[in-house]
Amino acid sequence: MNGQYKALWLNDDDDLEVIDQRYLPFEKKTRILITAHDACEAIQDMTVRGAGVIGNVAAFGVYLAAREFEGDKSQIKQTAMKIRVSRPTAVNLMWAVDRMLNIVAQSDDVIHDCKAEAMAIADEDVLRTQKIGKIGCDIIENIMVERKINQFNILTHCNAGWLAIIDSGSALAPIYEAHKRGIAIHVWVDETRPRNQGASLTSWELLDAGISHTIIPDNTGGHLMQQGKVDMVITGADRVALNGDAANKIGTYLKALAAKDNNVPFYIALPISTFDFECDNGVSDIDIEIRSEDEVHLMRGIDKHGNVQNIRITPEGSAAINYSFDVTPARLITGLITEAGLIAPNKNAIGKLK
Ligand code: MRU
Repeated sequence: MNGQYKALWLNDDDDLEVIDQRYLPFEKKTRILITAHDACEAIQDMTVRGAGVIGNVAAFGVYLAAREFEGDKSQIKQTAMKIRVSRPTAVNLMWAVDRMLNIVAQSDDVIHDCKAEAMAIADEDVLRTQKIGKIGCDIIENIMVERKINQFNILTHCNAGWLAIIDSGSALAPIYEAHKRGIAIHVWVDETRPRNQGASLTSWELLDAGISHTIIPDNTGGHLMQQGKVDMVITGADRVALNGDAANKIGTYLKALAAKDNNVPFYIALPISTFDFECDNGVSDIDIEIRSEDEVHLMRGIDKHGNVQNIRITPEGSAAINYSFDVTPARLITGLITEAGLIAPNKNAIGKLK
């Protein structure tokens, strides 16, 4: 690998260049991150998002700190700890920073070794997502044979594609693989209020890949499942506890409930770096990020003159609350699709991955 990944890359100046996801689907812009502070800000303001890519930007952020502070270990560590708390829920962030800190502690050539480690994490993510794609697609094919269907309808929530984890995504990886294998697949894309990662990012990815999809308001999934129009639900995850409880974008839990009620298999796709082996119980122990209420009050869109606008959709004076994630209990999850295979959502199976 050469450090050129779809969602981020090191440019000719060795700065980190990322797709600025805040402008999609209307404009494809990039942002150049030169300092560790830039990396931290990009994670916080959602220039980059999605558990995997947050981890990559954090890892490269530690490299930028190493460069900035000319290898001064104590300044690098201090800065790395700031990056480590830039968002609370996606555990890939902490996992990636801890891996980088390990290198900082051991290395005699910190700048060189931090760059190599950040690239190693990214290279590994590419391979992990390819494996997840193949394993997930085998599951899709088995369901199709079992149910004797030749068209597969799959529902996903939020964005767990290559914008969220390089280079194939987690939940979208089996979908990309199915498309590659010539399977007739159609994706129901939850719009994913309040930031609309489904409507603006997942749809953008699928359109670009030529994969059939339909954007649906978040409340539509249950109805579609009752009508037999969903063969599988698949989402990514931001943190999965030892007991199999999975934190993902707010609204995932409701989809899992509807899936259970309608006997629709509900899978979570994730790299092993998304497990939090220190967390015994996801529902009670995972820290859920609360973001600005403006994300609820304001909607971003494009007007008929092609201008991107933020418009208010709520009365001035009404309060809003913006929980960014929820936790789906393990009992609602059919299986966890990882690079190590299909894992049962329980302590016994997950504990073996440690
Ligand atoms: O707030 P976001 O957009 O970072 O939330 C992202 C999600 O919930 C994704 O579905 C999740 O990270 C899984 S993809 C690696």
